[in-house]
Amino acid sequence: MDVTEKLIQGQNLTREDYVQLIHQSTDPLAVRRLREAAVAIRRSYYGDKVYIRGLIEFSNYCKNNCYYCGIRRDNLNAHRYRLTKEEILDCCRQGYALGFRTFVLQGGEDPHFTDERMADIIRSIKEAHPDCALTLSIGEQSYDSYRQFREAGADRYLLRHETADSTHYRRLHPPEMSLEHRKQCLLQLKQLGFQTGAGFMVGSPGQQPEDLAKDLLFLKELNPHMVGIGPFIPHHNTPFAGEPAGSVELTVYLLSLIRILLPRVLLPATTALGTLDPEGREKGLAAGANVIMPNLSPIKNRKQYDLYDNKICTGEEAAECLGSLEQRVQRAGYRLVMERGDAILLS
Ligand code: 5AD
Repeated sequence: MDVTEKLIQGQNLTREDYVQLIHQSTDPLAVRRLREAAVAIRRSYYGDKVYIRGLIEFSNYCKNNCYYCGIRRDNLNAHRYRLTKEEILDCCRQGYALGFRTFVLQGGEDPHFTDERMADIIRSIKEAHPDCALTLSIGEQSYDSYRQFREAGADRYLLRHETADSTHYRRLHPPEMSLEHRKQCLLQLKQLGFQTGAGFMVGSPGQQPEDLAKDLLFLKELNPHMVGIGPFIPHHNTPFAGEPAGSVELTVYLLSLIRILLPRVLLPATTALGTLDPEGREKGLAAGANVIMPNLSPIKNRKQYDLYDNKICTGEEAAECLGSLEQRVQRAGYRLVMERGDAILLS
């Protein structure tokens, strides 16, 4: 049987099957068949709903030195900032008034935010907004830290694995980081009862179809609640400054594959996709994505959370422009909903 049909019928695919599927990303018939299947699956679980999450980028200090990332430790040109607890709570208050019911606290791995400080911030947000979901995205931490965050009331955690091939992982990260540790963190987060998100960059330097096949196999095995993928975009102050960006088409095609692979997954049309293509997020929704994460950070700091060049942050993706975002989503044929939208796992 054709690999496309095998995937759609829910059969287990081998790595070779996935490689073949990746190669079909340039075949318009296969792209269309998979996009239509993905959209039908999303519709059956979620109707025409698109969920929104308010993204609060609360620190761009990072002790890591990932070769692709604009806020890596060795980028001495980065203008570093961290929000105070009050500023973070203000972002939530403003977001709540706009209708947001999920807040995502994202930051670099910043030692200033000790477990105690994080737990205090988490408790304060949950106390002020008990009806909201709180998502953390603050990288690799110890099991005990994760446990404290969970006990303080955090509901969800995003930690992209970045690539599921260990050789490719080493090409993207300095020697002190490892795929093994990354995967261990993801398993621990699931164990602790976090709704957990993994994900990867598309078109990062050196990425081969075999690596993407491994990403898909890994996602199937991990069965996360959420998956974040976006194209790699070079940042001028990183070792990958001269590398080409990933492809919008391949990213969108992978969104369809992931929707079919993990039918109930919460799948954002990411900022990186919207940065490379003004229609990127609409294309993502049309391929099977069902989440958008507008920027809720203080406007004064937005440009500083500079992961890659030209990152969009003050246009229609911004939280204060919810009206125009809503119109765009509606024009694309969907309905923006404000509910928490917790993920439910299919076993
Ligand atoms: N291009 C695209 N995505 C990037 N990220 C970091 N740097 C880049 C880049 N240059 C993504 C990583 C990380 C997330 C917060 O941002 O996947 O997990």
